Amino acid sequence: MLDQPTTTGMRASAQLLEALDPIKSDSLLALIALAEADPRNDKIDVGVGVYRDGAGGTPIFRCIKAAEQILWQHQNSKSYLGSMGDRRFTELLRPFVLGRHAGDERLLGLQTPGGCGALALGFKLVAAANPTARVLVGTPTWPNHAPVINAAGLEIVRYGYYDRDAQAIRFDEMMSMLDGARAGDVVLLHGCCHNPTGADLSQDQWADVVRTVAHRGLLPLVDIAYQGLACGLGEDAAGLHALLEVCDEVIVAQSCDKNFGVYRDRVGSLWIKSADAATSGRAMDHVAQIAREMWSMPPDHGAAAVRTVLDDQALTADWQVELAGMRARINNIRARIAAADPRLAYIGGQFGMFSMLPFDAHQVRQLRDTHAIYMADSGRFNVVGMADDAIDRFVAAVVGAMNG
Ligand SMILES: Cc1ncc(COP(=O)(O)O)c(C=O)c1O
Repeated sequence: MLDQPTTTGMRASAQLLEALDPIKSDSLLALIALAEADPRNDKIDVGVGVYRDGAGGTPIFRCIKAAEQILWQHQNSKSYLGSMGDRRFTELLRPFVLGRHAGDERLLGLQTPGGCGALALGFKLVAAANPTARVLVGTPTWPNHAPVINAAGLEIVRYGYYDRDAQAIRFDEMMSMLDGARAGDVVLLHGCCHNPTGADLSQDQWADVVRTVAHRGLLPLVDIAYQGLACGLGEDAAGLHALLEVCDEVIVAQSCDKNFGVYRDRVGSLWIKSADAATSGRAMDHVAQIAREMWSMPPDHGAAAVRTVLDDQALTADWQVELAGMRARINNIRARIAAADPRLAYIGGQFGMFSMLPFDAHQVRQLRDTHAIYMADSGRFNVVGMADDAIDRFVAAVVGAMNG
C-alpha cells in the first residue's frame, strides 16, 4: 500500500504563475477608479464611455424595461441555445444592420457577447483562413482593437488616421496605405462615431475607400458599435452598405450595447459575407466552432430583451424614439461646445460620443486637479458624459485650459 502524503511541511512546487509579468493597467479603467474616489460633489467624469442623460444617469431604455417584463412573464426555459445564440435576435437585427442587403443570402450572422466578442471572432476567423493576413489599423483607434487583433495572432500595420492638432482626418495617408496594401490584407474601419476622435469619413471619402478596397482586393472588417448615435440608423450604416454593394467578402462586428443601452448584458453580432452562400455557410461553421472554444455560447438575457423589442412594432418604434432622443442630446451638446469658442468649432462637425481636445498631459491633469474634470490623457472626452447642469462649467474649464 502506498503511503498517504502528509500535507504538513509540504510546499506547492509548480510556481508557474510567478513567471507572469505585471500587467500594465488599462489607463481608462484607472481613470474611472480615480474619478470614483474623488470626493468632490461637482466632479465630471468624461473619461468613461457610457451615454449620460440630462440628469447625469445612464438609465435603462423604456423599451428594454418593457421587454424584460415580458421575458419575466413568458420565458419558460433557460436551457442552452447553442453557439449561434438567439437566432431570432439575429434575424430581427438583420434589416437594421444590413439595410438593403438584408435579403442577400451570402450574408450570415450570429449572436456574440457584445462588439468585443464579435471582433474577437471576426479576427480569429481571418487568422483561421489566412494566418499571415495583415490588419491595417488607422490611429488613434479604440484601445482594445490592438489587443484583440494580437490575440488572434495577426500582424497589425498602423497608419495615421487623424491629426489631433489640425482636427482633420489624414485622408491622404489613409488612401496611400490602402493603395499600397496587399490583396487579402484586412482593413479595420469604424462604421460611424469614430472612437476616440469623432471624425467620421464623409460620403465622398467613403466612396473613395470603398472603391480602393474593392479594387485592391482588400477585406473590410467594419466595427459598428454606435449605429444610430450619429445621424440615424440607416445613415450611420451607409458606408457599410456601400462596401456590401461592391465587395464579395466583408466582415461586420456589431454591438447593441450602446444603441440599446445594455452595456453590461453584452449584446452584439458578427456578420460574414463571402462570394457565395455555401462559402459563407462554411465560414459560419468555423465561427461557431471558434465561439464554442471561447465561450461556448453567448449570454442570453440582453439579446433576448433586444429580440423582444424588435419582435414588437410598438416597442421597436419606442426604441427608435429613445435612440433619436439620445442622438439629439449628443448633437445639441456638440453644438453648444462648438459655439463656445472658434477653436472648438470642429466638435460640432464630428459624431458620436467622443472627440479629442488638443491638450497635453499637463493640461489634462490640471483640469482634473482644479476642476474635478476627468478625461483620458489623449484629450479624448465623452461629449455626452455629463449632466445638463455641468455643461457650462465643463466648457468654461476647457476654454480656460486652452487659454493657458
Ligand atoms: C469602437 C468600438 N468597438 C467596439 C466596442 C465594443 O463594444 P461592446 O461593449 O459591445 O463590447 C466599443 C466599446 O466601447 C467601441 O468603442
